[in-house]
Amino acid sequence: MVEYTPKEIVRELDRYIVGQYKAKRAVAIALRNRYRRSRLDEKLREEITPKNIIMMGPTGVGKTEIARRLAKLVNAPFIKVEATKFTEVGYVGRDVESMIRDLTEAAIRMVKSARMSEVREKAQLAAEERILDALLPSRRKKASSPVNFFFQTSDEDGSEEDNAKEEDSMANTREKFRLRLRTGKLEDTIIEIDVEESHSPSVGMISGMGNEDMLLQIQDVVGSIFPKKTKRKKVTVSEARKIFEQEEAQKLIDMDEVVDEAIQAVEQRGIIFLDEIDKIAGKEMGQGPDVSREGVQRDILPIVEGTTVMTKYGPVRTDYILFIAAGAFHVSKVSDLIPELQGRFPIRVELESLSEEDFKRILTQPENALIKQHIALMQVEGVKLDFTEDAVDELARVSFLMNLTKENIGARRLHTVMEMLLEEISFYAEDKSGATITVDRAYVQQNLKGLIKENDLHKYIL
Ligand SMILES: Nc1ncnc2c1ncn2[C@@H]1O[C@H](COP(=O)(O)OP(=O)(O)OP(=O)(O)O)[C@@H](O)[C@H]1O
Ligand SMILES: [Mg+2]
Repeated sequence: MVEYTPKEIVRELDRYIVGQYKAKRAVAIALRNRYRRSRLDEKLREEITPKNIIMMGPTGVGKTEIARRLAKLVNAPFIKVEATKFTEVGYVGRDVESMIRDLTEAAIRMVKSARMSEVREKAQLAAEERILDALLPSRRKKASSPVNFFFQTSDEDGSEEDNAKEEDSMANTREKFRLRLRTGKLEDTIIEIDVEESHSPSVGMISGMGNEDMLLQIQDVVGSIFPKKTKRKKVTVSEARKIFEQEEAQKLIDMDEVVDEAIQAVEQRGIIFLDEIDKIAGKEMGQGPDVSREGVQRDILPIVEGTTVMTKYGPVRTDYILFIAAGAFHVSKVSDLIPELQGRFPIRVELESLSEEDFKRILTQPENALIKQHIALMQVEGVKLDFTEDAVDELARVSFLMNLTKENIGARRLHTVMEMLLEEISFYAEDKSGATITVDRAYVQQNLKGLIKENDLHKYIL
């Protein structure tokens, strides 16, 4: 398994997120500490709990983006939860423990798909045999039944010699078909196969309980009582291969082992990103159907402190799960959280507001940079988009000023500004196929004229 060093994690995050060095460092260290801890002997390991992190910063500066990229990067069970979802009406049904269940599901998926890819080659071979079986239905079915085997009569199946010959030629045919199969010549051939139906009797009548987890659990139990039905179906060889490979891989992996490994992964390396944590901090909103925010904090507390949550795969301990919380904290403050919860998040990092310079970089540098995205989109229509450097300067300047004069929505502003800028080109793109369109400062100014009134700006320009 790849274990990144903090420097490597930061470098990976740098490919997508501009600036926010402190936050990147904090998550990188926290992650590396998990690894360091895992190398210690058990006694010491038990003592070391993760140092949870709170990321604070205005909207649209990369908090969620850091979490998303981190998730892709680390080979750890990971989920992102909006803390606010626990304040919604009907909250009793979706208790906070569901985040541990979701994390466990994520881990199961992760471990399972790793195991599946380990057995892929074997599964592919087994699938091939099954396709051949379907392509060449055995003409000697009778002979394979035990009764006929013992009481074979000569007039039924011919002489021993004949049988051997027939077997030979069948094997030959099979190999010929195998070759044609492997060279992709039979992909569209229709064959009849038996497929397992993933049927589960309706449990709709109890859905009124509103507890999704319970519902799923019941569905699982009910599903396992009834044997799997199979159904005969006509499919192409290429479809059959997908189905068979899946089924064969499933047979080859040991689900008990998957579950054990997944639970281990959750307990030792799981990461939960708790977004919008600021929205459950602070004074009560007063009356209303929402569950009290402090109530939600109190519910979350034991999970963060370490408890055991029952999942359908078994009990899961939460002691060593890493929590990364994030919030804008512009209305409430971290100190508005209940003290116990604050204590559980000892690492605080502030994300900075983005500067005009940052905007220029966000537009052009990340691997998924907005300008690169739009160039690629237009390329599909045969239109070549060229952005001059001063166009980028102007876009960054306009976006930055709009954040100042209107609402500060961080890098999200760039999205709206880019859409506005390219609206015209986007609409007529297919008429301009083959053309190169150069977007320069003048073009930006022309197309974004309506967005900001320059005299609005005087008070901001010193
Ligand atoms: N520093 C950055 N570098 C590159 N892209 C960024 C950066 N900050 C934000 N973005 C982009 O802006 C958009 C919004 O960012 P993100 O979702 O991370 O905001 P956030 O900080 O979580 O805000 P909120 O508090 O509103 O949830 C995303 O598309 C993201 O890619
Ligand atoms: Mg966010």
